[in-house]
Order: sequence, then structure tokens, then C-alpha cells
Amino acid sequence: MIKIAVMGYGTIGSGVVQVIETNQDSICKKIGEGIEVRYILDLRDFQGDPIQSKVVHDYKIIAQDPEVDIVVESMGGVEPAYTFVKAMLETGKSVTTSNKALVAAHGADLIATAKEKNVNFMFEASVGGGIPIIRALNSCLTADRIEEICGIVNGTTNYMLTRMAEEGCEFEEALKEAQEKGYAEKDPTADIEGHDAGRKIAILTSLIAGQQADFEDVHTEGISSITATDILYAKKMGRVIRLLATSRQSEDTYAVMVAPFLLPKEHPLYTVNGVFNAVFVRGNMLGDAMFYGSGAGSLPTASAVVADVVELAKHIGKHIELEWRPEKLTIADYKQQCMRFFVRTTADRTEIEKIFDTVAYVEVPEAADEIGFITNEMKEEEYETKAEQLGNVRQMIRFHS
Ligand code: HSE
Repeated sequence: MIKIAVMGYGTIGSGVVQVIETNQDSICKKIGEGIEVRYILDLRDFQGDPIQSKVVHDYKIIAQDPEVDIVVESMGGVEPAYTFVKAMLETGKSVTTSNKALVAAHGADLIATAKEKNVNFMFEASVGGGIPIIRALNSCLTADRIEEICGIVNGTTNYMLTRMAEEGCEFEEALKEAQEKGYAEKDPTADIEGHDAGRKIAILTSLIAGQQADFEDVHTEGISSITATDILYAKKMGRVIRLLATSRQSEDTYAVMVAPFLLPKEHPLYTVNGVFNAVFVRGNMLGDAMFYGSGAGSLPTASAVVADVVELAKHIGKHIELEWRPEKLTIADYKQQCMRFFVRTTADRTEIEKIFDTVAYVEVPEAADEIGFITNEMKEEEYETKAEQLGNVRQMIRFHS
């Protein structure tokens, strides 16, 4: 019998217990033996709840129980999650977590501890919720050098941008709707300013680079400046605006950024709407692949956590090698990346053409007091110099080819 503990009985922790209860038979067949949730660590008592007898308030009870083989961390945040997870690994237990903040900050360290103790640290649910992107990178795409990852990895902002395009509403209205539906947090800063996506692309970059990519080094822009007028221009251009988390090989490192992009119809991510997530991967042998599905929510995320539990149960006593060295990756300067830029300005055509040379103009009747145009391809650094020369720039959104 495999005995597990769940640390944090919130949305994901309770989902984990539900998935194990609902699919007990098939999960046990896959593991080859029974599975029991022995402890649930939480600050609350859950009086009268069927799980009440399993509830403990001190993580050391779990750490000191030699019968517990696997621990699920679903508390969120860096501390005390890091202290608890480290203690579990050090006492010879394998751990799976859904906590992107923990993985982005301490992934390399926790993997090293797991190796030292001959156990495993897994984190499938930390990126893309239920989408199996981490295992795909760690197990299925190991024959390739990954040249590019481009993902819609934040469900809240994708829902908001989809609604803005469908309804023509402004950012504030879309945010209110996302909050009413329970997608966005009361304090939605991490979602709308791109920090959540920044942590997720830092994790994916660390995996494809094999060393620590710090999320603080990822150039991050959110969607709070996107307006209904931008959406009108996007429609006129036959494009959609999406918050993309991108990591692109640049010599021996990666250029990593999170920002709103204008996506063309031909791009596989164009049709990813609502709270769905998708991650597009380009390998040097594989070519293109895309992983699509529910990027958040209790049961989809719990499904990924329990899949890790099954994997951990199958590998008790055996560490699965995973390259994520602690040496910091020097992320390439995003300003050296070449692309086209869509610009809205109150400057006139003579000034625009004097500075940007030939451009493609985009007109929408609702924005008669300004000019919209698309630049030729240039480095971001060059765009910034020209935009400063032009002045009066109301908006800039990058073009994705
Ligand atoms: N706030 C996140 C999102 C939850 O909206 O995608 C899943 O990480």
C-alpha cells in the first residue's frame, strides 16, 4: 500500500483527494498496489468532514512517519512550502507540487536534494495545469534540442482577451467578469501583469536549457494596457491579441519574454480561446508540436498532480535523472530580437515615414484621431530608438510571425 500525504487542502489539494477517490481502481492498477491518503496538512480542522481524521497541523508528523512514501504540496507560495518540501525530500519521501512559485524559485535545489536522497521531485501541474507539458519535455522530447517554446500559459488573461474580442468590451469589464467567474484572483496582479506566465516560462526554459533560468530576468509585460481599440485594430489585421510566454534559442542561450502579441490566423495558438492553455514547442528533429488543454482549475490540475503520484509510486527507490543545474542561465537580451511592431500614434504620416521608412497603415473608423501602422522587421532596440524619435506613441504591440 502506497501511503501519501497532501499538504494544503485548498482547491488543488481537495481535487487531488477527489481524483484518487473517484479513480481509485484504475490508479491502483497502474501503480500495481493500493494507495491511501494518510495525512492532510492544513491550518483548518475540517470538523465533520470525512477527511477530518487525516488532518494534521504539523508538517513534522508527516516527515517523521516512515510509512509515507509520497507527499503532494498544494499550499502555494514559496514559504513555508519550501521548508516543508525540503524536509520531506530529506527524510526520503518523493514530492510532487503544483506550486509554480516554489518550482521557479527553488527547482534546481529541490531536484538536487531529491537526487542526493535517491527520491524524486516532480512538478507537472506547475505549468499548464492539466496539460502534460513538463513530462513531454523531460521524457518524450529528449531526442531534440528545443529551439522554441511559445505558450498561452495563463488562463485568466486568455479568458479576458477572448471576451474583449467577442464583446468589444474594455479591460476593466473583462477583468470584472473573470473575477465573477472565479478565474481571476481578488488581487489579479500576478495574472494581468504577466508574473504568473513569467514564472511558468522560466520553469520551461530551465528544463530545455538544463540550468536555472531566473524569472526575475524574464522581460515581462502584462495585458493591463490593452484596450477595446487595440482589439478593433487586431480584427482589421485578421489577428488576435494573446499574452504569450516565449523562449527562443539565441546562440547558446534563450531569449525569454512575456508580452501581448498579435497572432496571425495561421499560428496554431490563434484558436486557443477562453481559459484554455496551449504550449507550442519546436524541436530541431521533431519540428512543431502543440499541447492544449485545461490550464487551471481543481480537477484538471489535480489530474496532473495524481499522474505524478502514479509516476513517483512506480519509481520508489529509484531517482529519475533530470537536468536542471543550479548555475544561472544568462538570458539573451530581448532587445536584440527581430520582429515587426504595430504602433498607434498621433504623429502624422510624414513624420512616421521619415523615421520608420515604409510602413503598412491600418485604419479603423473608431480611431480617427490617430494613425495605426506596422513597421518593417527590426530589432526591438532599433524600434525603441525610432519610437522615441517619433514621440506620441499611444500603443505598441509586437507582431508574431
Ligand atoms: N492564475 C492562473 C491562471 C492559475 O489563470 O492560469 C493556474 O496557474
